[in-house]
Amino acid sequence: MTQAMSETNARDAVLEARERVSEGRREFFKVLGVGAAAASGAGSALYSSAALAYGGPFASAFTLHPPVTYMNIGTTGSTPREVLKNHDRNYRAVALDPTLTFNTQTMRNTIAPGFGAHPFELVLSYNTTDGMSLIFNGIVANGGDEIISTNMEHGGGNSPMNIKADRTGMVVRRINLPTNDAYSDAEVLARFQALQTANTKFIMFSSPPYLTGIRLPEKLLCEWAASQGIVSIIDGAHGTGMLNLDFHDMGVDFYAGSGHKWQCGPGGTGILYIRNQSGPAAEYANTSPLPAFWPTFGGYSTNPGATLNGGIRDPNDNVAATMMSRGHPNYPALQALTECCQMWDAWGRQVIEDYIVALAQYLRSRIYTIWGQQTLCTPYDPAIPHHARVALTSFNPFSPNYDYNADLSAAEASAQVTASGNAVAALREAGVVVRNVATPHSLRSNPAQNATGATFSRPLRISTHLFHNVRDVDNLVSKLLQTVPHP
Ligand SMILES: Cc1ncc(COP(=O)(O)O)c(C=O)c1O
Repeated sequence: MTQAMSETNARDAVLEARERVSEGRREFFKVLGVGAAAASGAGSALYSSAALAYGGPFASAFTLHPPVTYMNIGTTGSTPREVLKNHDRNYRAVALDPTLTFNTQTMRNTIAPGFGAHPFELVLSYNTTDGMSLIFNGIVANGGDEIISTNMEHGGGNSPMNIKADRTGMVVRRINLPTNDAYSDAEVLARFQALQTANTKFIMFSSPPYLTGIRLPEKLLCEWAASQGIVSIIDGAHGTGMLNLDFHDMGVDFYAGSGHKWQCGPGGTGILYIRNQSGPAAEYANTSPLPAFWPTFGGYSTNPGATLNGGIRDPNDNVAATMMSRGHPNYPALQALTECCQMWDAWGRQVIEDYIVALAQYLRSRIYTIWGQQTLCTPYDPAIPHHARVALTSFNPFSPNYDYNADLSAAEASAQVTASGNAVAALREAGVVVRNVATPHSLRSNPAQNATGATFSRPLRISTHLFHNVRDVDNLVSKLLQTVPHP
């Protein structure tokens, strides 16, 4: 396939995925009982055809609008217009009557099925960092127990893990995550397996990691862990809302996600899954014994034997309800998150994933044509392998030969910090918001090794979402050509 054909095919795939989103949108209107005229945009302020002309198929459901094209959902998202209205109304209602409460069990009943979870297993947390803290506070680790993690963890997961290690003597061992052509799912599994010892009790990894956006083989890793009696923990800050997730099928023990990034809920909302075997047994890929876990909550009775059963688990225990009892919640924010999840479920989580991944694919096809495969963390592949099923795109036009995996001297890395920072600022000036990250990429000279401290690279990280379309990607690429080095 020629490079031009790749771009055309990737663009066509976006259009096809967009058509499926539009079908989901029509279904959504049917669910709402809104007539066809409104659904076509004629009578609907929410989905006006004028707004559809600018962004993606759901652009008009959001308040984002030109001249700024916001492409940093990896940091935080933007709450849909109708949800904002309800949130405002609810917040005012609570201010008028502070005794007002909302039923969080109903919220969890609504949200859980969309993630392949039972409501007893799904906690509405404050964000990913909060979820990871709750997980590490609850699991039981003894001195000498080992956890295998990666070199690309975010502080939101790293800090609770390191605190646990400092407090208990748990030992953290880390694999290097491969990038560009050094990456394969099999290689990642092999690197985890290589660090396994008789003391390995846990694995913890982000998927997708915030530095590179590569999707790790969650199910493969969780199933391997379960087969070894190892407990799996995933930092899914970028999973919830971006990907169509099924926690039971994934086999993960603990998964902390964000409510405010790709799921587009308000700040201070998150989704935390705790496998509890509360649903039908046939749904669970992982049926190994439930690991001991002490829920964090605000109603501790000082009688742990009676209240928490010594950390011993019971599928009939509504552990998520216990963990929702942590002081007074922000009910309007949790309600807004619930409504965002309802929207995603009605539009179709797979349809959303397909559309935003197709957009990222189109972006990768354009980058491939101009800068070449070696510049992408996830090289462009028309087949979209599992690890490329992400809406985050990381690429590095600042390294020698535009090579993502280039070995950098400390001086080159330092110059790259400046060049990449300047590019982010210039793009912002040109109306496009992206971010850059300090990344320990694989080394071209030795793919088994990754860059360390002073020689990290600074690729750009670009997010594509429901409110973007092909034109936004083309606009970004033309701005990139004005702001970053290119052949
Ligand atoms: C992988 C990862 N984990 C955790 C976090 C923290 O997320 P939150 O703001 O939801 O706590 C982030 C934020 O960017 C992240 O990328």
